[in-house]
Formats: sequence, C-alpha cells, structure tokens
Amino acid sequence: MFDLTNKVALVTGGQGGMGKAHAIALAEQGAKVIVTDLDLDQCATVTDEIKSRSGESACFKMDVSNKSEVNNVFDQVIQQFGRLDILVNNAGIYSPKPALDLTEDEWDKTINTNLKGQFLCAQRGAKEMAKNNWGRIINISSVASGQVGVGIAGGAHYTASKGGIIGMSETLAIEWAPLGINVNVIAPGAIDTPMIQSADMPKEAMDAILERVPLKRIGKPEEVSAMVAFLAAEEASYITGATFYVDGGWLAG
Ligand SMILES: NC(=O)c1ccc[n+]([C@@H]2O[C@H](COP(=O)([O-])OP(=O)(O)OC[C@H]3O[C@@H](n4cnc5c(N)ncnc54)[C@H](O)[C@@H]3O)[C@@H](O)[C@H]2O)c1
Repeated sequence: MFDLTNKVALVTGGQGGMGKAHAIALAEQGAKVIVTDLDLDQCATVTDEIKSRSGESACFKMDVSNKSEVNNVFDQVIQQFGRLDILVNNAGIYSPKPALDLTEDEWDKTINTNLKGQFLCAQRGAKEMAKNNWGRIINISSVASGQVGVGIAGGAHYTASKGGIIGMSETLAIEWAPLGINVNVIAPGAIDTPMIQSADMPKEAMDAILERVPLKRIGKPEEVSAMVAFLAAEEASYITGATFYVDGGWLAG
C-alpha cells in the first residue's frame, strides 16, 4: 500500500491486540519494526512473525511509564538501527472502576501509562527524528476522550488520559512541525482485542454500543492499522495535529 522501505518504526504495547497488528502492518509496508511491551517473550513472537515474512524486526522490554527504561531502549534502538522515523504510541491500560472508589494509585497508574508514557516516548523519539528532519508520531487515544459525547461509566481515569493525549498531540504537532515531525491521533471505537475482552462488559453495554454503531459490529485491529500505515507514510505529509476516529460510524450514529 505505502512505501516505508528503510524507515525504522517503534510500536509500544506491541505484544498483542492492536499493537501487534500495527507492527505487522508497518512491516508489510517495508519498515523495520521494533516491538516493545512489558513481556519480552510475547514481543519476540511478534518479531518472529515479522521475520518469517522476510521483514526486519527487533524487540525490547519497555515499560512506557518508566523514563530510564524508555531512554535506555531508545538508545539501544539507535545503536542497532541508526535512526528512528515512526513511533506508534499504542500501549495503554483500561481498568474500569466507579469514580467514587478509585484510589489515587489507580488514577496515577492509568495516567502514567496512557498519558505520561506517550509523552516520554514522543519526547525521546522526536530528538532522533529531528536529526533527519522527518518523523511520524501516531498517538492512540479513544472515542472515549471527551468532546464527542462518549463517556464511559467506570472510566474517569481512562477518559482523562485519552483526552489528554489529544490536547498534548495538538501542541506537539505545533512545536515539532519545524522539525519535520507530524504528530497525529487515532481514536478507535470498540475494537476486538484482549483489552475489550478482559473489560468483561455486560452484554447490554455492548449491545448499547453496537446500537449506536452504524456498521453494527465491533472493529478488527487491522482496520485501525490501515490508518496507522497511512499516517506513517509520505502520503500523509500535509496532515498533523489531527484526530482520526476509526469507529464504524459510532460518532455519526
Ligand atoms: N480495544 C478497544 O476497543 C480500544 C478502543 C479505543 C482505544 N484503545 C486503545 O488502543 C490501545 C491498544 O489497546 P488494545 O485494545 O490492543 O489492548 P491490549 O490490552 O491488547 O494492548 C495494550 C498493550 O499495552 C501493553 N502495556 C500496558 N501497560 C504498559 C506499559 N506500562 N508499558 C508498555 N506496555 C504496556 C499491554 O501489555 C498490552 O500488550 C490502547 O492504548 C487502548 O487504550 C482500545
């Protein structure tokens, strides 16, 4: 679809779910893909899959909320691959709990993973991209991020983190445009991944979502990866600071 030959891409939270699909999609367009997540063995299964399709790939254990770990992994990536062109900030957690019961630690964990983690990776990645005056940062938010009428009961910490991503990305897009770095957001609707399966949503809640989704089905990870591949490509050169909803029409429904 797009030519990402010689580009080096790093995907966070890439061991499964949408992150894995994004890693494979970028590799299919020719990028060398670094897969990172909390479990190195799981990441290795994704790099093996990429290599089995003749792609180039490496994996690292990286907790996005840990600044020294992030810096250390980016250093190793530069040592091994010499550059970084594309960053997909995909890692995230969703642990629903009523706001009245939410502890400070639970709040901090979600914000540190979903929001601070994206900033730490974007900041470190941008320093490398600036050296080549070319970069693509793709931050994964959610339809549940504010301003579009999708609040989720039990998700005060999650929606705060996802809304923060959009505000942060608009600012980074402005600051880093002179460096040749485009920063965009993808806000998925309901997508079939371990996250949504483990959220253990009551059938009525899922039915209520599908009622609002004109396409009447949950999305597949690959349907979000297509947007990732586009935003990573040269063809997306005039797009920055934008948020793309990949939601089966949810917001129109
Ligand atoms: N599935 C959906 O319906 C949906 C909808 C909107 C947005 N999202 C977002 O999409 C992204 C991918 O989620 P998914 O649905 O594939 O879920 P997932 O749980 O399969 O993937 C999330 C990944 O992030 C990793 N992760 C968690 N904490 C981490 C940390 N501190 N450091 C590094 N990695 C960490 C997990 O190990 C996991 O592999 C998330 O940001 C999520 O919020 C998902």
